[in-house]
Amino acid sequence: MAKLWRVGVVALAVAVLGACTSRVHEAGATPVDCAVVKCVALTFDDGPSPYTDRLLRILNDADAQSTFFLIGNKVAADPAGAKRIAEAGMEIGSHTWEHPNMTTIPSAEVPAQFAKANDAIRAATGVTPTLWRPPGGLTDDAVNARAGEFGLAGILWDVIPFDWINDADTDATRYMLMTQIRPGSVVLFHDTYSSTVDLVAQFIPVLKANGYHLVTVSRLLGPRAPGSVYGGRENGPPANDLRDIPAGEIPVLPATPSPPPMPNFPITDIAGANSGGPNNGG
Ligand code: NI
Repeated sequence: MAKLWRVGVVALAVAVLGACTSRVHEAGATPVDCAVVKCVALTFDDGPSPYTDRLLRILNDADAQSTFFLIGNKVAADPAGAKRIAEAGMEIGSHTWEHPNMTTIPSAEVPAQFAKANDAIRAATGVTPTLWRPPGGLTDDAVNARAGEFGLAGILWDVIPFDWINDADTDATRYMLMTQIRPGSVVLFHDTYSSTVDLVAQFIPVLKANGYHLVTVSRLLGPRAPGSVYGGRENGPPANDLRDIPAGEIPVLPATPSPPPMPNFPITDIAGANSGGPNNGG
């Protein structure tokens, strides 16, 4: 009986804890209707990385939510890092198991890229992704159909500020953001760059001053049909919607070290393939 009582208490504690956790996440979420107010979805690819926790603090301090497209083999190598992203109330999508060009790998290898990433993300976070981002933005009808079998909808973007090319020149990235972002934009970043995290820290106040709410892709777009693809690989037309804020209102960055970007892991499962994207596995 005593043992049963203890089990009951544990179950109650788990239930209360679960309720509190979800309440914290709800409190952290900005309850916005993107059909009414201006929203932008900042998305971060290729993590988790050593800079992700700094980004999570920045986003949480700003009451901002984002979507993280995680690479499965990085999640498997750092499940605790992936879990912290979920615990911070962020949305998690799949960026495949090892970031190949999904349109050129052998078609027989495509399902495993989805399955292994979903398994790693589910094991680390308890969340099964419903969104995926094609590495390099590269996909085709056959790959999309396979994604649909795993319940995944593709999410590309309309703003690509080239943060990986502009690593040492964040002014160039910032210019792209200033001229391209408009209400409803989905923005592609990489939290594998220390400079990207710094840029986001200093750019969020600009977005907020312009009345933007920072939301997840799902909050912005609503449910997506598995196998569908949203957005494109290029920048949309210039919007010039944003007005800059005085330099004095941009927060000074803490003296954080700025180590080199974190590369993706080389592809080991598929002979002759290399991990695509900014770092190309290097
Ligand atoms: Ni990528």
